[in-house]
Amino acid sequence: RPQSNREHVRSGSFPSPDAESIISKYLEPCGPGNPHSHSPSSRLTHDTVEQVRSRVLQHFNTTSKDYSVIFTSGCTAALKLVAETFRWRPQTEGEAGSHLCYLTDSHTSVVGMRGLTSTLGVAALPVSSQELKTRAKDGIQEEDVICQTPHLFCYPAQSNFSGRKYPLSHVEGIRARRLYPACDLQGRWFVLLDAASYVTCSSLNLQDCPADFIPISFYKIFGFPTGLGALLVRNDAAGILRKTYFGGGTAAAYLSGENYYVPAENISDRFEDGTVSFLDIIALNHGFESLYRITGNMHNIQQHTFGLARYTYTLLSSLCHGNGRPVAQIYAEGQFESPITQGAILNFNLLDSSGQIVGYSQVDRMASLFNIHLRTGCFCNTGACQAFLGITDQQMKRNLQAGHVCGDGVDLVDGQPTGSVRVSFGYMSTFEDCQKFLSFVAECFVMKPVTVNRARLQELKAARESSDRPDELPPVNGFIKERQTGVEKSSSKASQQEFGHVGPSHGKTLTNIYVYPVKSCAAFEVHDWPVGPLGLLYDRGWMVVNGNGVCLSQKRESRLCLIRPQVHLPSNKLFLQASGMDTISVPLEDDVSFHTSSQMCHSKVCGDRVETFDCGDEAAAWLSLFLGQPCRLIRQRPGLTREMKKRNQTGDDQLITAASSFLSLVNEAQYLMISRASVELIQNLMSNRFECEMFAIKRFRANLVIAGAEPFEEDNWSHLIIGNTRFTVAGPCGRCQMIGIDQDTGTRTKEPLVTLSAHRSGKVTFGVYLTHQAPEDFVSVLSVGSVVQMESHDH
Ligand SMILES: *Cc1c(COP(=O)(O)O)cnc(C)c1O
Ligand SMILES: *[C@@H]1O[C@H](CO)[C@@H](O)[C@H](O)[C@H]1NC(C)=O
Ligand SMILES: *[C@@H]1O[C@H](CO)[C@@H](O)[C@H](O)[C@H]1NC(C)=O
Ligand SMILES: *[C@@H]1O[C@H](CO)[C@@H](O)[C@H](O)[C@H]1NC(C)=O
Ligand SMILES: *[C@@H]1O[C@H](CO)[C@@H](O)[C@H](O)[C@H]1NC(C)=O
Repeated sequence: RPQSNREHVRSGSFPSPDAESIISKYLEPCGPGNPHSHSPSSRLTHDTVEQVRSRVLQHFNTTSKDYSVIFTSGCTAALKLVAETFRWRPQTEGEAGSHLCYLTDSHTSVVGMRGLTSTLGVAALPVSSQELKTRAKDGIQEEDVICQTPHLFCYPAQSNFSGRKYPLSHVEGIRARRLYPACDLQGRWFVLLDAASYVTCSSLNLQDCPADFIPISFYKIFGFPTGLGALLVRNDAAGILRKTYFGGGTAAAYLSGENYYVPAENISDRFEDGTVSFLDIIALNHGFESLYRITGNMHNIQQHTFGLARYTYTLLSSLCHGNGRPVAQIYAEGQFESPITQGAILNFNLLDSSGQIVGYSQVDRMASLFNIHLRTGCFCNTGACQAFLGITDQQMKRNLQAGHVCGDGVDLVDGQPTGSVRVSFGYMSTFEDCQKFLSFVAECFVMKPVTVNRARLQELKAARESSDRPDELPPVNGFIKERQTGVEKSSSKASQQEFGHVGPSHGKTLTNIYVYPVKSCAAFEVHDWPVGPLGLLYDRGWMVVNGNGVCLSQKRESRLCLIRPQVHLPSNKLFLQASGMDTISVPLEDDVSFHTSSQMCHSKVCGDRVETFDCGDEAAAWLSLFLGQPCRLIRQRPGLTREMKKRNQTGDDQLITAASSFLSLVNEAQYLMISRASVELIQNLMSNRFECEMFAIKRFRANLVIAGAEPFEEDNWSHLIIGNTRFTVAGPCGRCQMIGIDQDTGTRTKEPLVTLSAHRSGKVTFGVYLTHQAPEDFVSVLSVGSVVQMESHDH
């Protein structure tokens, strides 16, 4: 049967649609063949992969005569391959041995080669770009011809940090030993050109630049496929790579009983251990095809992206606060004179009107509110980060001790930045994107009125006109005019004095209690509510997960706020309501049999593993219908709890360590409390008081709302007593774009985060977290109207 069906497929004559589905069942397993075998489908795969290899080489203007393509899982894997297979000669008594040299402005993945070579007794030699330039000598000396010690020099064609492009002529300079450190160290020099960042927006012509090893990642060029890169190896240099491990497909012959292995003759075969990711490789054809179809060629991409970067640089570097101080400190080597020396990357920190650096986490958070995607931190390039930001090795180590690790949100330590902000452009970026970004900076981070340093603008313009490739300056003036009219509006904001604070003069009281039974869904307001072991009883006991089991929040799915859960204690039910939907219920507490029969799930909340169980198909169908995507309702498994994270006291993520306490599916802490006075203050500062107080209160999704305090007085409290329940303040609550979601409609606005951020100058926190301090068997109920007594930090 299968045999004859295949015949039908070949001839294209399917007997009937029914038969078609039967045939496809047989055909599926024979889909694309593994390129290592010889069946017809395998041959086709093999030939297509070979075709892609030559396409890759053609992209870099070379052929298989000079270069080979070794497919890897990415640029990093390609770098590791070189480090592992390079014929390093260890240091001995008589001989200095091989050196691994790299520019200090290298990506982590390059510097990491050192970890491998140091175990082999190979010296590592970091070189700064200044050293590379100034210590030049000329000519190869006689005696060198004899010495064949291999050395490897690595440098990025474009810095992933600043976008600086290093001269491709360094390749020849090192190989011919004209440049330091090659001129000082005898031996044979090989050059690894890290082109991962460079090739995203520039053409690399390997006929002009005979680098020995070129690692790249394809997702940086087309976005897809993600797990695929390559090491381009100059065929003449391939001999310096020695195969040690041999995986499937890399041997010409070997014996299993004897240490006998002959590597494959062909360079690509020799170094591709196991089966290459052949479907992804075939996809590269489409990547190249669309890249050329849309843009013409890499040169066009370079001109386009550089133009955008230069425009953004010009304006950002001339932008000033109302008091004349600059808005940004830009980390670049030159002034974006030419695409030969600068790529389409702009790296900077923003400064406030007193010249202090604004932490990058703050910029990041505001940018996501404006749907601008930028990257912050040290960008996998500690060398460049240290050089530009002036961070010493000691400081680097001290920051680690202070709790700052790569990739966290600790952006300032003692007022000094630990990283910066980077915007990069790709061929799909537009001029409007740049304007949007600049407007965002002007709106959120500039003390009004926005001004421009005209002298600097003229200077940059002049520099550009004298450069060999003048191009028209985009409408700078239009941009500024528009900004300034925007300014007038917002500078007429309510001043601090306009609102005398109103509150019950007799003291502080609890005015609202909100339970959120399902994480990220609507609040359930109550008058009296029992205090459970994990916070308000049933608060965040449930959550909604998507088809992949990932917890949904309003950040991604704002319609969640339209689902109104209600806890009904007497009937032991949680009701779910939403407009246009029938109300359904799930039991609050189940008998044991339900727990054991229902499916256990492992989920994550804020990186913590939580154990949950599924609440069944009815709830899942209801949620899926309302949210328009496959979803399930899951609930925290009773008895299994998460401990509250103990956070370091530095930086933005500040959470003062409290006595250990247990959490529900909530993000950070058991209770969130806000004060009406603080809500009012922020509301009054907003240019147009856009909604009534109740609506504003809802946005902050607190459990407890109090009245009678001074604005932001709660930030200073350490302990409080509400009714007869004692609480410890566990620190401020950091805010994000979630507070921009109108909890009644699910629509998003930039306020009140913009105003909050402006008012709090840097710290975007609002409200405080609480944990209750009580013996485990303590029974208590919180009630609206209870008196709130507090203790300050300074007491
Ligand atoms: C991205 C990048 C790398 C690492 O590439 P991966 O895809 O993460 O392996 C190395 N060097 C430079 C210059 C890069 O930009
Ligand atoms: C390829 O390289 C040669 C030699 O440098 C050059 O003349 C030619 O223009 C290049 N072709 C492309 C498409 O870049
Ligand atoms: C720089 O490297 C990082 C990590 O490897 C990557 O996420 C980022 O996209 C790179 N940026 C550029 C401009 O290549
Ligand atoms: C390796 O094999 C491919 C395809 O068979 C061929 O195009 C390439 O030239 C070979 N490389 C070397 C260095 O022989
Ligand atoms: C909180 O304490 C700080 C420092 O003691 C003080 O400057 C600030 O005014 C206090 N804030 C309020 C609202 O009481």
